[in-house]
Amino acid sequence: MGKIISILALFSDHLFEFICFVRYSSSYSLNSSTKLQGRITFNYHSLEKGLINVPIRSRFGKAKISRLMNYLKLWVVRGYDVNNSQFRSGCAVLKKYFDYHAETGQEINDIISDNEIEFFSRYSEGQEGGTISFNCKDYFSSSHSGFNEFSVSRHSVRHFSAESIDYTTIKRVISLAGNAPSVCNRQGWQVTFITRKSLVDEVLLIQSGLNSTSESVKQLLVVTVNRGVFVSVTEWYQVFIDGGIFVQNLLYALHFHEIAAVALNWSKHYFLDKKLRKLIGLDPSEKVISVIAIGYPIEEFSVPRSKRKDVSEILKIID
Ligand SMILES: Cc1cc2nc3c(=O)[nH]c(=O)nc-3n(C[C@H](O)[C@H](O)[C@H](O)COP(=O)(O)O)c2cc1C
Repeated sequence: MGKIISILALFSDHLFEFICFVRYSSSYSLNSSTKLQGRITFNYHSLEKGLINVPIRSRFGKAKISRLMNYLKLWVVRGYDVNNSQFRSGCAVLKKYFDYHAETGQEINDIISDNEIEFFSRYSEGQEGGTISFNCKDYFSSSHSGFNEFSVSRHSVRHFSAESIDYTTIKRVISLAGNAPSVCNRQGWQVTFITRKSLVDEVLLIQSGLNSTSESVKQLLVVTVNRGVFVSVTEWYQVFIDGGIFVQNLLYALHFHEIAAVALNWSKHYFLDKKLRKLIGLDPSEKVISVIAIGYPIEEFSVPRSKRKDVSEILKIID
C-alpha cells in the first residue's frame, strides 16, 4: 500500500511540475517580464557567441537579430523597466554587432534599420556589450586569488589549444570538485573523461551547442548523477540540484588548476539522451547533467561578456 501511495505521489508531483512548466516557462506564452527577459538573454547571448569567432562570420545571425529586436521593442511597449540589466545588455550587444560591421565597412541595412539603430544606441548608452578579450597568461592570473577575484575571473572559454590535460591533473581536479555539498552527503555524481578525439566529436555532434569552435575541443568531461543514491520519491529532482552544485564546483576546480572549460547544455529529449548513454557506455541509472568541454586555451581568445543581473534584480528581502 505504501509503495502504491508513493508512486501516486511521484506521479502527481510530476504532473504538477508539468503544469507549472507549461504555464510559467516562456515555451508557450510571453505574458510576463521574466519570460520576455529570458527570450532577450537567450537571443543576445547567441549573438555574443557569434562575436567571439575568428574571423567573425559576416552578417551572421539575421533571424536572431530580428527576434531580439522584436523582444526589445515589446519590452518598451509594455512599459517594463528600461534600466533592466538584460534589456540594456541586449541593446549593447546589438550596438556591438552594428559597430563591428560599420568599422569593417560591411553593409547591414537589410538586417538593421535606422530606427532600430537609434533604438538600441539610446538604451545601450554607458553599457558594455559583446565580448572580452584575453591573453592565456592573463586569463589565469587570479586563479589562486581570494574568492572574490577568483570567481569574477572565471569565464566559459570555447577556444582550446592542441595540448592535452593529463590524467594526474584531472584526478586532482575531480578530487577538488568532490568537496561539493550534496543532500545528506549522498554524492551521487560520476565523471566520465573522454580523450578519444573521434568520440569527443561524436558527443559534440549530439550536444550541438558549440558548433563553430567544437573542432578545437580535444577532451570532454561528462557529469552524471546516479539516481540510485536517492531514497524517497520527494527526491526525484535532487539529481539536478546535486548535479548542478557539483558542476559549478567542478568549473571552479578546473579554473583553479588553470584549465579552460565551458559547460554544455544537456537539456535533451529522451532519444538523444539514450544515444549518448549508448555511445559512452553509461548505466541507465545515471542522469546526464552536463557535458563539459575542457582544455588549455589558445594564446589570444575572446569570451562572451555574459552580463550578470544586478543584485536588485535577484535579491528579495523579507524583514
Ligand atoms: C548548464 C549549462 C549549460 C550550458 N550550455 C552551453 C552550450 O550548450 N553552449 C555554450 O556555448 N555555452 C553553454 N553554457 C555556457 C553559458 O553560456 C555560460 O556559462 C554563461 O553565458 C555565463 O558565462 P560565463 O560562464 O562565462 O560566466 C552553458 C552553461 C551552463 C551552466
